[in-house]
Amino acid sequence: MKRIFAILVFAAFYISMVSLSFEKSESYDLLTLEPNLPAQPYSYTLHYPEHAIYGGYATIDTVVANDMITSHGATLGRVLFYDKQLSVKNTISCGSCHFQEFAFADTARFSIGLDGVLTPRNSPTLADLTWSSGSPFFEGSILFWDCRSKSLEEAVLDPLQHPDELGKDLEFMVQKLSGINYYPPLFENAFGDSEVTPDRVADALAQFIRSISSFDSRYDLVKMGEESFTAAEELGEELFVNNCTKGCHNVHSLSTPFPRNNGLDLVSIDLGLGGWDGRTDNIGKFKCQTLRNVELTAPYMHDGRFKTLEEVVDFYSDDVQLHPNSDFRHLENENFTGFNFNRAEKKALVTFLKTLTTPTLLTHDKWSDPFEEVSSSRNLATEAGLNIYPNPVDDKLMIELEDYSNQNIQLNLFDLNGKLVWKNRMIESMAEYGLGDFSTGVYILKIEIDGNLYSKKLFLK
Ligand code: HEC
Repeated sequence: MKRIFAILVFAAFYISMVSLSFEKSESYDLLTLEPNLPAQPYSYTLHYPEHAIYGGYATIDTVVANDMITSHGATLGRVLFYDKQLSVKNTISCGSCHFQEFAFADTARFSIGLDGVLTPRNSPTLADLTWSSGSPFFEGSILFWDCRSKSLEEAVLDPLQHPDELGKDLEFMVQKLSGINYYPPLFENAFGDSEVTPDRVADALAQFIRSISSFDSRYDLVKMGEESFTAAEELGEELFVNNCTKGCHNVHSLSTPFPRNNGLDLVSIDLGLGGWDGRTDNIGKFKCQTLRNVELTAPYMHDGRFKTLEEVVDFYSDDVQLHPNSDFRHLENENFTGFNFNRAEKKALVTFLKTLTTPTLLTHDKWSDPFEEVSSSRNLATEAGLNIYPNPVDDKLMIELEDYSNQNIQLNLFDLNGKLVWKNRMIESMAEYGLGDFSTGVYILKIEIDGNLYSKKLFLK
């Protein structure tokens, strides 16, 4: 009798669970937006220049990254990365905290997650993670500020299940994605059939993220012998190499596969690595982020405490704390509290750090949001016969419209805060505009031709 009762109780419980999950499967809406993708997928192959391979540490990932990326896989990853339908309420995507124009970091100190909840740490750049997503030197891996994740495939599933980020369990995600019409062909192209699984989602997202790397910064051009540093940049580089690379920001990769304590606090508030591995000697140790694109990834440190590069350099110069785990205590000396840079040196260091910005990464369509209403991923050249070049813009921007016939063409240039900074009209099929007065950075050019709107991200040097 007891047994029968137990079976009945179990059956009732089971039925209620099934009906609960059934209810759950009914409880979402889908959006109508479709991704705007090129007919032929972009190439996502990584091309490491020689100095980038041999300088710094080659990690497992830099060696095999290209074998792990296919153009179809990264294309699926791109769609997933920007698809708000990956979140429970269709409100946020990975791209809501990792912005292309800021090297896939966020400009807010803490990012806004699901239901307005703030993330406990600053959203880091996702560029150049091949240098820090697997390393022969460090057991496990070094992803996330506290180095808690072993691989990129594991790391990308974290925000998908986090209740404050995208906030969902994987089963729910699979069910939801399987019901979205544009996914079957994308999964089929990437994996041979249209089945949606958590592993495939992770694989595609990781492929897309691994591909996020480019080497057209001024720094790289100098290393390739195509440009040369100014005197200030050269002084900055010398100071950087002598002081900052030792065991930390290795030359070229500008990061290290080891977690570090950089003496931010005397007593750690956020315990970092020590917070989950339980080792006192790891308290206050965090991932040592790459400095590539650092000009754009403000605010800085795991808690976004510094607003500008000047503040960061001031800290390393004058304010390093004697935390028991501070790596400076063995890299420099036991009582190290700063490098004591003078004003000119501080300025030169910041000038050098600004040579690490890679324009293509911030503007290339292959990493852009394919869901944007007016997508920069539209092939402007074929769609409207528009050619906009060069990008990055040195000084002068050229615009050509192949089938020009006296249309009304308005040009509006916005900064990343959405502020209109320049406007003009185009009155012939080819025109040249001087944009030399603007400060360096990414801008959005919107072109309206007879009521049709096109947009393109431009990097002004
Ligand atoms: C609500 C904002 C938010 C969203 C949405 C979000 N992230 Fe993040 N991401 C963060 C924050 C904050 C961190 C740092 C967390 C930490 O280290 O504890 C982070 C860290 C990461 C890292 C580790 C980077 C490194 O340097 O170690 C990866 C990889 C990543 N996110 C990928 C993604 C992907 C893929 C998605 C979408 C599936 C996503 N993120 C969605 C805020 C967000």
